[in-house]
Amino acid sequence: MNDLMSYLDTVSAETERALDKALPAETGMAERLFAAMRYSCFSGGKRLRPGLFAATLELFGRELADYSCFAAGLEMIHTYSLIHDDLPAMDDDDLRRGRPSCHKAYDEATAILAGDALLTHAFCQFCRVDAAAEAKLAAIDTVAYAAGIGGMVSGQMADMQGEEQNIPHTMERLEYIHRNKTGMLFEASVLSAAILCGATAEQQALLRDFCLQLGMAFQISDDIRDAVKEAAELGKAPGSDERNGKLTYVTLLGEAEARLRLQQAGDAAFALLEKVDFGNTARLAQFVSFCLERV
Ligand code: IPE
Ligand code: IPE
Ligand code: MG
Ligand code: MG
Ligand code: MG
Repeated sequence: MNDLMSYLDTVSAETERALDKALPAETGMAERLFAAMRYSCFSGGKRLRPGLFAATLELFGRELADYSCFAAGLEMIHTYSLIHDDLPAMDDDDLRRGRPSCHKAYDEATAILAGDALLTHAFCQFCRVDAAAEAKLAAIDTVAYAAGIGGMVSGQMADMQGEEQNIPHTMERLEYIHRNKTGMLFEASVLSAAILCGATAEQQALLRDFCLQLGMAFQISDDIRDAVKEAAELGKAPGSDERNGKLTYVTLLGEAEARLRLQQAGDAAFALLEKVDFGNTARLAQFVSFCLERV
């Protein structure tokens, strides 16, 4: 875990340089918007998605420094998803990354707009990466679909509907929610890097299978932490899932079974990495261990 943390420190520094360059200065008529965007982006997230992007670049012998604007775009999309996720209309959480959520530090309208602006500005960053046009287009297409109807936004819809009384809490819905709201942005971070590096269809398919298991492991660990950890460690309000009547691995199956499913997803992810014969997967394996160890 310590190895991954020091790697993520390096990735964070590189990503934050790119974010700082990309985000507008807090001046002018839209100063409040720009301040809210910076507030949420520079609040100490783990930078897991830039980390996965960088680790995949390394798998193919490339370096993050040459693609840092793309990593910044991925983090902007993730940060926007957190800002909107915390809004009263969604999870209604007042604490994020150890600080007041965006709508608490500013107001709801500003938080909605900061999310909108981060999502759209991310695509400016993707367009600016120095890569062959065809690969760049394919990478952007992958992220756009995974962050929207083919992934995160659809997953968030299923998550919100899961709170309704008349929606049955089934394994099928639970797997759909986790795969989409969380797994697909992990997948987009890995696959966009692979595509920029010219990965073959077979290589991409293997990495996609890996991300499905990694994303599942990560979100199950997030569910467990929500139920068992304190605010100081979480940096967010504990017990949010229970309070909102969410469908999670803990609320549906109980903590013990959730831990078992976490281990199963982790084992499946490790097994898929064993099949990779085109580079060193030690770094990607550390992300799996991280999910297993943080609960
Ligand atoms: C939180 O993601 C949202 C989920 C998908 C569970 P992270 O745990 O990666 O959040 P930060 O970026 O480190 O704050
Ligand atoms: C949110 O899942 C995933 C997103 C797409 C933002 P959660 O609602 O469980 O994330 P946290 O626990 O608030 O970070
Ligand atoms: Mg949520
Ligand atoms: Mg939430
Ligand atoms: Mg959660």
